[in-house]
Amino acid sequence: MEAVVDQLEQRLLASLQSEAFRPLGLATGRTMEPLYAALVSRLRDWPTDRLQLLRQHWRSFNLDEYVGLAAEHPSSFSAFMGHHLVGPLGLDPAQVSLPDGATADPEAAADRYAAAIRSAGGIGLQLLGLGSNGHVGFNEPPCGPEVRCRVVRLSSSTRSQNASAFQGRPGLVPEQAITLGLQEILAADELHLIVTGASKAGILRKALDRDGDPEVPASWLRRHPRLWLWVDDAAWGEEGP
Ligand code: GLP
Repeated sequence: MEAVVDQLEQRLLASLQSEAFRPLGLATGRTMEPLYAALVSRLRDWPTDRLQLLRQHWRSFNLDEYVGLAAEHPSSFSAFMGHHLVGPLGLDPAQVSLPDGATADPEAAADRYAAAIRSAGGIGLQLLGLGSNGHVGFNEPPCGPEVRCRVVRLSSSTRSQNASAFQGRPGLVPEQAITLGLQEILAADELHLIVTGASKAGILRKALDRDGDPEVPASWLRRHPRLWLWVDDAAWGEEGP
């Protein structure tokens, strides 16, 4: 994780020196927990005035949020960000955006979210995890590279994958989410896909072997000119992807 944090730290330093810096694209999930912990620990070592400047300049948009959960719900991605990043870094929650999952009109919330990203200039550096079924954000298979920010129905495999945040009960995981589409993700300046753990080795191999397969949404990422892949030994697998 330290190598990813090195990159992030450099980009954040650059953001303080550049007016043209585009917002960060952030992800949630267990993969991100050690990353955010390492990032927080690194940034807390910054001189106070520099960290304060970073807080003032911070702008980020998360990939996704469950539909039907209030931001305060402990299993919401908003709560995840509060716990892992906003609280520990003392960020202003208004500068850390997520889709509004609690609204009565999620389609309109997805459109508003996409418009907010456009008016902020689009995403600069985008962090991504990998779903067990090859999803990125909540772009479930099958899906093409043209899909935009929208409301999606979560597959039963994804609801099972994410059940740990819902007392281990897939039935408690919301059925829908708002996610950035592959279109917005692929429009970012650079993508950083982080994959850890042996359970991801098989799907990572598929994502790397296939060039744009709707059944493996992460395979579209290969088309991005600046894709960084951060993989631990377990996810790389014995023979490598
Ligand atoms: C979740 C999120 C993704 C995340 C992925 C992997 O469902 N929507 O953005 O990257 O699945 O999650 P984890 O890191 O917990 O394996």
